[in-house]
Amino acid sequence: MQTLTVALPGREYDIFIESGLLDRAGAYCRTVLPRAGRVVVVTDSNVAPLYAKRVTASLEGAGFAAGLTVIPAGESSKSVTMLERLYDDLMDFGLTRSDAVLALGGGVVGDLAGFAAATILRGVDLIQMPTTLLAQVDSSVGGKVAVDLKAGKNLAGAFWQPKLVLMDPDCLTTLDDKTFADGMAEVIKYGCIWDERFCEFLLSLGGREGVMTQIDGILAACCDVKRQVVERDERDTGLRMILNFGHTLGHAYELFGKYETYTHGQAVAAGMCRAADIGVRLGITPAGVPEAIAALLCMYGLPTAIDCGMAHYEAAVGLDKKGDGGDISLILLTKLGKAEAVKLPKSEVLHLLEAFSL
Ligand code: GLY
Repeated sequence: MQTLTVALPGREYDIFIESGLLDRAGAYCRTVLPRAGRVVVVTDSNVAPLYAKRVTASLEGAGFAAGLTVIPAGESSKSVTMLERLYDDLMDFGLTRSDAVLALGGGVVGDLAGFAAATILRGVDLIQMPTTLLAQVDSSVGGKVAVDLKAGKNLAGAFWQPKLVLMDPDCLTTLDDKTFADGMAEVIKYGCIWDERFCEFLLSLGGREGVMTQIDGILAACCDVKRQVVERDERDTGLRMILNFGHTLGHAYELFGKYETYTHGQAVAAGMCRAADIGVRLGITPAGVPEAIAALLCMYGLPTAIDCGMAHYEAAVGLDKKGDGGDISLILLTKLGKAEAVKLPKSEVLHLLEAFSL
């Protein structure tokens, strides 16, 4: 069992990481929800048949009235339409302000259920129970919740910290390799931005099998980095931006693939490599770093480059129609294991990207 505490003033919460936690969710929830009568579990059509009954049974065992609502799996569920359906379901369950919402699933479920919890009845308690590697190391911790709008992803959102995060690493055994790799891109990112030795450790594990032998410690290490960052900059105005290493250029690849061709992790993987290349060209990142990152990504079949064309890079860096977008803060590595935001003219970034694409 690994335990971490995210110490935000007035909103402190624990992260528990333990095999078999699915069946003990009720008892853990009871400790943080002493007066709640009802917990509504929000999950998706992939996760429901695997784990929903175990979680609702455990909640009922702890004396909660457990509700269950299932959304269709996939990013298209992170919508205002689905949010409205979820509000209706929560009200039909008779949710009151002293009850709670439990998000059981990956990032889509966590973000949608989290945003519903943040806003329904002006906010109810939220328990995050992430079941994918990506959600366990990233989206379930730190309080960012959102839905997508036509204009872009995550554009309607809130900061709504959970009361508790429960991770059962056994859930990862049912992920296919592509979904596991999606999360590994973010795991590798933590090494790149924070801890060179963690990169070396990941390299020594050789792949998914090796990672799973050390999974509790790996989840804890990643969540501990996120904890430190979020404690210092909850609202994403400074340090938290380093968590976006690889994400600005990754956004170009996601746009290029219309959010279907590439997973978030695949796009971030290629984005980290390109950002490292840019850092080397600018003399900020030491030579050899791009290759070290690529070696880790290749273990999971993650791409180290995606050729997306300049129009998608321009959209991702936010170049305006006159082509004069001012500066952009790009997250670059000053060494493997240390990141900082570097302000650069967008035109210079695009010029460098163009040179790589030749
Ligand atoms: N996923 C990046 C953040 O939580 O800030």
